[in-house]
Amino acid sequence: MENKITSLENLPQGILNQEALLTQANSLLDTMLDLKELLLGYTCAIKEIRTKFEVLDTEFEVRYQRNPINTIHTRLKSQTSIMEKMMRKGLPITKENIEANLHDIAGIRVICSYVDDIYRLADALTHQDDIELIAVKDYIKNPKPNGYRSLHLIVSVPIFFAEQTKKIQAEVQIRTIAMDFWASLEHEIKYKKQIRNPEEIAEKLKKCADVISYTDTMMQDIRTEIDSYQGEKTEEEQIIEKLKRFDKVLG
Ligand code: GTP
Ligand code: MG
Repeated sequence: MENKITSLENLPQGILNQEALLTQANSLLDTMLDLKELLLGYTCAIKEIRTKFEVLDTEFEVRYQRNPINTIHTRLKSQTSIMEKMMRKGLPITKENIEANLHDIAGIRVICSYVDDIYRLADALTHQDDIELIAVKDYIKNPKPNGYRSLHLIVSVPIFFAEQTKKIQAEVQIRTIAMDFWASLEHEIKYKKQIRNPEEIAEKLKKCADVISYTDTMMQDIRTEIDSYQGEKTEEEQIIEKLKRFDKVLG
C-alpha cells in the first residue's frame, strides 16, 4: 500500500506532467484537425476547378476540333508556405484567418497556346452558375514592370461534402506556353540563384518578355487568319467533314 495516491496534491510529478501533456496533445490535435479540414476543402476545390477546365477543353475539341488547353498544373500550398505567409502578414495563425487572408492555397495554372483562348476560358469559367469571381488581375493587359504576363483570377467554388457545402477560394492563373516559359525561368533565376549582375539580368529578362509578347501576338494573328478562311470545299466535302466530327465525339 506504500505507493497509493491519496490526494491530488500528493500526486507524483510524472503524473501531473502527463495530465498537462494530455491537455497539450488535445489542443495540438484540434489544431491538426482544423488544418486537415482546411486542406481537404482546398484539395477538393482544385479537383473541381481542374474538371471544369477539362470539360471546357473537351467541349472545344468536339465543337472546333482543337484543344485550347495545353496543360493544367495544380498545387496545394505547403503547410510551411501557409505559416510563412501568415507570419509575413503578421496575422495570428487560425483556420478563420487563413481562410480570410490567403487566396492562393489552392492553385490552378492553365497553359494555353493562344492569347484569345486565355480570355475565352476565363469567361467560360467565371460565367458558370456556381463560380463566384472574387478578383481579377490582368497582367497581360497590364504587365508587371519586370515583364511578367498572366491572367489571374481569384474565384470561389462550392464544395458539396456529405453533410455540408463549403465555398472555397482558389487562385487560377491562365497564360500562354510562352508566358509560362518566361515565368518559370524568371522564377528560377530570381529565387534559386545568387546573381552577380541583377540589373543587367532584369533588363535582359524584360527584353525577352517583350519578344515573347510579340511572338504571342503574331501566333494569334496566324491562328485567327487560318480559322477565318472557309476554303472552297464542295457541299459533299463539307458534309464528310462534319460527319468526321461525329466520329471524334463517339470515339
Ligand atoms: P502573392 O505574391 O502570392 O503574395 O500575392 P499577390 O497579391 O502579390 O498576387 P500576384 O498576383 O502578384 O502574384 C500571385 C502569384 O503570381 C505568385 O505567387 C506567382 O506565382 C505569380 N507571379 C506574380 N508575379 C510574378 C513575377 O514577377 N514572376 C513570376 N515568375 N511569377 C509571378
Ligand atoms: Mg506577389
